[in-house]
Amino acid sequence: MTRRLENTASGLATAASILRAGGLVAFGTETVYGLGGDATQPQAVARIFEAKNRPRFNPLISHFPTAAAAFEQVVPNALAQRLAKAFWPGPLTLVLPRAAGSTVSDLAADGLATLAVRVPRGDAAQTLLRLTDRPVAAPSANRSGRISPSDAAHVLEELDGRIDAVLDSGPCAVGLESTVLDISDPARPCLLRPGGVTLEALQAVCGPIALPDTQSDAAPLSPGRMLSHYAPHLPVRLDVTTPRADEALLAFGPQHGSPAALVWNLSEHASLEEAAARLFTGLRTLDGEGARRHLRGIAVQPIPEQGLGLAIRDRLTRAAAPRPGASSGHAYSIPATQEGDSPL
Ligand code: TXA
Ligand code: MG
Repeated sequence: MTRRLENTASGLATAASILRAGGLVAFGTETVYGLGGDATQPQAVARIFEAKNRPRFNPLISHFPTAAAAFEQVVPNALAQRLAKAFWPGPLTLVLPRAAGSTVSDLAADGLATLAVRVPRGDAAQTLLRLTDRPVAAPSANRSGRISPSDAAHVLEELDGRIDAVLDSGPCAVGLESTVLDISDPARPCLLRPGGVTLEALQAVCGPIALPDTQSDAAPLSPGRMLSHYAPHLPVRLDVTTPRADEALLAFGPQHGSPAALVWNLSEHASLEEAAARLFTGLRTLDGEGARRHLRGIAVQPIPEQGLGLAIRDRLTRAAAPRPGASSGHAYSIPATQEGDSPL
């Protein structure tokens, strides 16, 4: 049984003592719920991989209450200091050389010479990390390859019975994972995953940033960027301007009578912030309800690629990608003549 802990002094104290004893506690951050374990205890980290069914080659982000605590585990350069000042606490993860005296276990770091560190925003996460007083490894609290959880109920859908507790701090404000930026070579910052801090905001501090190849799994620097990720059960069709009656529609912007059987609007006002916060709940809702009604898939309206749109599109592209082991792609298409979409 997984305990549900309230976001109160006693709930937080219980959560911290479970973590310190090597147990697993899912907790809300401003991005998504994390599946936390003491990063310094290899057994706790092993339990995280087991609970998630996660491939072991995937390194975890270590979470800290302050930049000072994070920078004890890595070798911070001047750019790291500037970025921390600008964006922490907040949805940015920095990849830096691991410090010689780092107490984070090899299992959490996947034996790499670098370590991903993050200082999340949000009172519950901050207090929990302070009370735990250890680096807390926390991947998103979903089973591997599934949609990330943005509230405590999602966590229980994924992991009930597989973890010790979930600390319920309500829905996540940002709703998308952190941006992962590799600055182990400060002369060449590299975006490993778009996320809650926009590329534009980072460029204002860093200057030019190298971008990942979003179409491939190859990027060896970010072992966790498997192409198929965030996968709903129903197939996903992207950039649809004319949805069909037998589809669930993930809409963006004002709607004028859509034929789709089921609609979740990410944002009536076409706000990318609102869309990010509603994305994972929308995918989950359309997936569950759409499958129940035997719909053929989820159609997604076009979403602009600027600001948080880059991260939203990244997650949706992964949701539509072929699944590992699947013989055919998970994205589906409908001939243009049938669909009424223009070919471009
Ligand atoms: O918002 C978030 O970042 C959430 C919350 C819970 O903090 N966590 C999260 O963790 O999304 P996870 O494990 O789902 O994603 C971590 C990503 C993976 O793509 C992983 O490969 C990458 O960060 N990563 C971790 N350590 C790395 C390293 N040393 N070098 C390169 N990439 C790394
Ligand atoms: Mg994840």
